Amino acid sequence: MARLTTLVSLLATASLVSSTVLPIPLSDDENDTPLPLIIWHGLGDNYAAEGLASVAQLAEEVNPGTLVYMIRLDDDASADRSASFFGNLTEQIDKVCADLAAHPILSTAPAVDALGFSQGGQFLRGYIERCNFPPVRSLVTFGSQHNGISEFQTCGARDWLCRGAQGLLRSNTWSSFVQSRLVPAQYFRDINQYDNYLEHSNFLADINNERALKNQTYKRNLERLEKFIMYVFEEDQTVIPKESGWFAEVNGTEVTPLRERDIYREDWIGLKTLDKKGALEFKTTGGRHMALSDQLLGEVIKNYYGPYGRSFEKEETDSAWQEEL
Ligand SMILES: *[C@@H]1O[C@H](CO)[C@@H](O)[C@H](O)[C@H]1NC(C)=O
Ligand SMILES: *[C@@H]1O[C@H](CO)[C@@H](O)[C@H](O)[C@H]1NC(C)=O
Ligand SMILES: *[C@@H]1O[C@H](CO)[C@@H](O)[C@H](O)[C@H]1NC(C)=O
Repeated sequence: MARLTTLVSLLATASLVSSTVLPIPLSDDENDTPLPLIIWHGLGDNYAAEGLASVAQLAEEVNPGTLVYMIRLDDDASADRSASFFGNLTEQIDKVCADLAAHPILSTAPAVDALGFSQGGQFLRGYIERCNFPPVRSLVTFGSQHNGISEFQTCGARDWLCRGAQGLLRSNTWSSFVQSRLVPAQYFRDINQYDNYLEHSNFLADINNERALKNQTYKRNLERLEKFIMYVFEEDQTVIPKESGWFAEVNGTEVTPLRERDIYREDWIGLKTLDKKGALEFKTTGGRHMALSDQLLGEVIKNYYGPYGRSFEKEETDSAWQEEL
């Protein structure tokens, strides 16, 4: 039964694709080519790191022929790492938008898939909301801070960049000096300092459309996703609060899930729309921050990436809450 449904929706998608969306009909061959995959690494990492190269290799094994592009703020790996701590996110995202739009292959693909590790997850969302050229089909985020952090992570004893960032954040989070230079400050969000946050946040308050004036482009762009999969690590002690990975709001021990928040109910950025079409998924995986197994990554690559025009299984949603919609 499930197979039949898949086949039917596959056919439906295929005819839609050739007749309305694409100017030229795709040959079967091109239809099998996986979409390119863009990956945005986390804080303290760099685009040339071995761990990322092994993710690219896995993508190639699961979906042969996948072009993987590692997002970078600088071709020099150590400068790229430094940019994960320091810089103005508005400018960083602008640069990524320009790089992707100018990339000879990415810019001609009908769409790309996206994988965000930790802060790279909310930055990819920023890319989608603000630019989305090339457009993203499936976005998967692992341990991201979609609703911000209320505490800066602890740093390794010898990680001077990290410690410098930590000191700066504590000094004066909401000053424009800090907001224009320190990356994590731009997604710092403490519900008990909400007025300051709304007024000064250089990134998160904007891309979450929390201010009075809502940017409709952000909502329209995010709604174009076919899949938005959010993974939270069950024993995450780095991201505070870890429920941020699901857009939940946390005040002390009180957790308000996304579906009970105004950002969702009033659909400020299209999350409700995505949820209604079965595109939004809340997932957990065991272990600490970024304790990712090849097995899980392989499943994610198989389930959400791959050829353009493929169909996705609809996940079971809990019916009690479906009725509320
Ligand atoms: C909304 O976002 C788009 C894309 O970044 C931008 O071009 C536009 O100026 C923004 N609109 C407002 C009202 O800020
Ligand atoms: C970040 O950069 C943008 C674009 O250059 C600028 O408009 C904005 O004021 C900067 N943010 C801060 C907090 O200075
Ligand atoms: C957060 O919780 C504290 C203690 O329960 C409470 O006093 C405060 O008003 C809450 N903040 C918000 C914004 O709800």
